[in-house]
Amino acid sequence: MDNIENLKAELKKLNSEAAKVRDLPPEKRADFGRELNAKKQAIIAAICEAEKAALDTEAEPIDVTAWCGVNEPMPEFYPAELGSKHPLMTELDRVIDIYQMMGFDVVESRQLDDEYHMFDSLNFAKEHPARDGYDTFRTEEGLIPPAHTSTMQHRVLKQFKDNLAAGKPIAAVMPGRVFRNEDVDATHEHTFYQCEGVYVSEDCTMGDMLGILREFFEKYYEQKLNIRTQPGYFPFTEPSLEFMIEKPKSLGGKKGDFLEMLGCGMIHPNVLKMAGIDPTRYHGFAWGGGIDRLVMLRYGLNDIRYFESGNLNFLREF
Ligand code: DAH
Repeated sequence: MDNIENLKAELKKLNSEAAKVRDLPPEKRADFGRELNAKKQAIIAAICEAEKAALDTEAEPIDVTAWCGVNEPMPEFYPAELGSKHPLMTELDRVIDIYQMMGFDVVESRQLDDEYHMFDSLNFAKEHPARDGYDTFRTEEGLIPPAHTSTMQHRVLKQFKDNLAAGKPIAAVMPGRVFRNEDVDATHEHTFYQCEGVYVSEDCTMGDMLGILREFFEKYYEQKLNIRTQPGYFPFTEPSLEFMIEKPKSLGGKKGDFLEMLGCGMIHPNVLKMAGIDPTRYHGFAWGGGIDRLVMLRYGLNDIRYFESGNLNFLREF
């Protein structure tokens, strides 16, 4: 270490010598500066070398296997604890399985999307206040961590458009992670999961949509359910509905205790048109809802913040 201190002192001395350049005749200044700089560079290199050598010899090695229990004595033997799948991912797999059994394709949504897929392709008029309902984040480049999985509708409609010409419907679900600029509390998170669905064919109706949704929820909660809808508003569906289920007794619900589970409706003709589908010939419906909420009801959780908390006590419950 002494060596390093000496080198640093020498560097300081050289730095103070730089001022002498002013006393020299102009023709000698350049040589003086060049020589001084060369000496400084050599000393700086020597300091770096010495510091590196000191680190190598003086640093205490870290024992990564050391016991880190703060208040507990180290047990004689402790088994390594294997991590486990996050409960949301386990449940998302169940959700996907159910839709796949019903014949739906699965396309994962993106975690970074653009203005066109977030708003324009979904029939949000430019400057329309409905855009404000989705308090989204933006990157400096203007990209958007999507606020809903509906961002995938346009892509999927285009991707499976040829199904229609072949006489088959478009039937796909799009699960994914979404982001909103929320004030976080027990029922609001800035990061959560949604699953979107689209179905397009020549003759589908709203009755088909309600049948599919009922089937999904009854499979997910493994029981018969009472469902209800009420009018909603989304620019990408017309008419739009909010879909509710009556909270089952087995999950602590009382009669008349309806919970809103998702938004849905008949796909707006403009959305079909933008994807190159003729709205005078084909009809479709779409829906999208939160996975976190679904899981909270199933397990009787009262705080959405557990999911993103990394709290091991919570995770070990599953
Ligand atoms: N994307 C909407 C939301 O997050 C939910 C939604 C409503 C999705 C209606 C749909 C739909 O596909 O048709 O608020």
